[in-house]
Amino acid sequence: MALEAETQAIVDQFEFSDDDVNRAVKEFLRQMDEGLRKDGTSLSQIPTYVTAVPNGSEKGLYMAVDLGGTNFRVCSIQLLGNNSFRHTYNKVAIPKHLMVAKTAQELFAFLALEIKKFLQEHHNEDFEHHIRRRMTVSAPEGFRDEHIFRMGFTFSFPVKQVGINKGTLIRWTKGFDIPDAVGKDVCALLQEEIDKLHLPVKVAALVNDTVGTLMARSYTSPNKHGSILGAIFGTGTNGAYIEKLSNLKKGLAGEYDDTTGHMVINTEWGSFDNQLNVLPTTKWDDALEKGSINPGYQMYEKRVSGMFLGEILRLVTLELHNNPNVSFFKDENSSFNDRGSVTVIDRDSPLYKPWGVDTSIMSTAEADHDPELSALRQSLEKDLKIYAPAYEDALAFKRISHAIGRRAARLAAVAIAAVVIQTGKLDDPELLGEEIDIGVDGSLVEHYPGFRSMITEALKITEGIGESANRIKIGLTQDGSGVGAALIASVAASMEKNTSNVDYIGELRSTVKAEPSAVDEKAASD
Ligand code: BGC
Repeated sequence: MALEAETQAIVDQFEFSDDDVNRAVKEFLRQMDEGLRKDGTSLSQIPTYVTAVPNGSEKGLYMAVDLGGTNFRVCSIQLLGNNSFRHTYNKVAIPKHLMVAKTAQELFAFLALEIKKFLQEHHNEDFEHHIRRRMTVSAPEGFRDEHIFRMGFTFSFPVKQVGINKGTLIRWTKGFDIPDAVGKDVCALLQEEIDKLHLPVKVAALVNDTVGTLMARSYTSPNKHGSILGAIFGTGTNGAYIEKLSNLKKGLAGEYDDTTGHMVINTEWGSFDNQLNVLPTTKWDDALEKGSINPGYQMYEKRVSGMFLGEILRLVTLELHNNPNVSFFKDENSSFNDRGSVTVIDRDSPLYKPWGVDTSIMSTAEADHDPELSALRQSLEKDLKIYAPAYEDALAFKRISHAIGRRAARLAAVAIAAVVIQTGKLDDPELLGEEIDIGVDGSLVEHYPGFRSMITEALKITEGIGESANRIKIGLTQDGSGVGAALIASVAASMEKNTSNVDYIGELRSTVKAEPSAVDEKAASD
């Protein structure tokens, strides 16, 4: 009984009510506006110089790399021009020591090496050909540029972008911490290491994963009005949306084409409300904050995204376990234990290690509807080294996990609601009754059961949206960052031919309409 009451008390602290949602949406809109007016605000609202989204007719072979979470991905993408693409990719986990390396060079050298391996594995002919050319042509000017792969670099950290392939790192997030890289041009850092290995690759475009997701969604989405938002709910969280140029009041450093009247803005919403005007804060959020490498930053992200939810759950679980008034994952419970054996937490359990609990266990807990919670109990044993957990304990764990996940989903809805309201699309007379399309990616939206439906449920109680929430289509856009980066790289390539053309996405629209293709191409759907 004590366990049930304590669990309920914890669950209550993660409640984010309808009123809380509405208050937070208003504050989000206020902070969005502030970010459009000046630099240095908590919601950065970074202009991307992308002034339109693709229409699906773009073609060509490009490379893309993606750095932004636990993995580094290298891919080549064939844009087929009929809303579809084919791609090949390699994925490798980023060694932990490189995420906190002394110098940026160590990390970028590793990335360049992975690019080399990918080329050797999947494009060996081009690679060998390039090496032969280098050996036979004495002057580097002798190489013809068109033999070089154009690569989009999806770099998913806050960057002050000053050109299509130029941008300086503002700060690291998501567990990366290499102070040496802050303030440096990340494209130049990567190109330097690529050149050291003599690879036939040019870093042609710098792209945030949310911008890539928005581009990819627009390329593959059947919605004739394109998408208005690309959002990530994965290791980190962020969104990029299409804003009216007239609302963008702060100065822009680079050139851009203003004919579309719009620009894609990278909100960097992970840092929404760093000042904690409306974000909920439990004592476990505080504890996480103290142990984080960037206290005071990414306050919204720390309540919403995959890198952090597992840690909140770990902190709560440990506290409940240590509560002398409650029997939770403890020996005393063995008499009630339906397994008939003693519950033991291994000394080596991830529960005892800061950041040791992977958020994926929350998906297992959420998905487990078995009367004995078998899958969750197996995972508690295998992943958390809690042996012979009782049914009651697993149930308490599931309820706490659900409360943390539900708060995250409702907070996610706050950002989506604010962006939808800001764009005014629901009230656009030209779109009456039509779907408003949003592309999302990331482990939470992909794997956490019900994450999207909890978002929709919260949208329905948001003032200014209500039942129109049914018109908001939240579609999974997988590998968006790769395809989106390729799309921007394709425009960058066309800009090289005509340097006076700065509307590099608008330019995409004018590329030759594709012949209908008979190949079994992969079109992203959903
Ligand atoms: C970064 C964003 C990124 C997001 C999702 C955040 O931590 O600051 O740039 O888009 O994670 O990957």
